[in-house]
Amino acid sequence: MSHPRAKTSPQPTLARQVLLRPAKVEEIAIIRRMADEYLLDNEDLQAGQFTVAELEGKLVGFGRIKPYRDADELSTLAVLEPYRNQGIGRRIVEHLIARFPRDDIYLTTDIPAYFEKLGFRQVSEGPSAIMEKIRRVCARFRGCAVIMVRRKTAE
Ligand SMILES: CC(C)(COP(=O)(O)OP(=O)(O)OC[C@H]1O[C@@H](n2cnc3c(N)ncnc32)[C@H](O)[C@@H]1OP(=O)(O)O)[C@@H](O)C(=O)NCCC(=O)NCCS
Repeated sequence: MSHPRAKTSPQPTLARQVLLRPAKVEEIAIIRRMADEYLLDNEDLQAGQFTVAELEGKLVGFGRIKPYRDADELSTLAVLEPYRNQGIGRRIVEHLIARFPRDDIYLTTDIPAYFEKLGFRQVSEGPSAIMEKIRRVCARFRGCAVIMVRRKTAE
């Protein structure tokens, strides 16, 4: 199975300045608020799952690795609006990929074009937990979504 490579380009300045670190328990409240505002997956939010992007002491973005019985999902990714399109989302995704516990990195999204640039490709089927998630969460949070996967180890 061939997997596209992520498009590489120089990191914008702001993205280089961002500190990526594990979330603190007290940050789950703001993550929940932002996830609700952006209609993201807010199931079972736990600090230990999240990487946050910090800029000058302010939380400007986050994403997580959400575990299931037969897969893990890159999920609940967001960058605060004033900080978008400066490479911060890409840095969060790359950080999550580096610490991903499995070789196949699944996600469900309604913006596949964004993730294609990061090396993900659309698939019609995934592990059963991902199929259940797309039926359960996507009906609730976002109108439509697709499953995407990327192999952690570049081929
Ligand atoms: C999606 C999101 C995380 C991207 O973060 P970001 O830091 O703005 O993105 P980056 O700077 O890493 O990437 C910018 C590139 O992605 C593209 N892009 C940004 N948002 C996009 C979108 N919604 N759809 C398609 N492409 C998008 C930009 O055009 C830019 O392309 P270029 O590199 O060719 O110029 C951010 O827009 C966001 O928080 N959106 C709301 C929450 C959301 O939709 N999360 C994902 C749900 S699965």
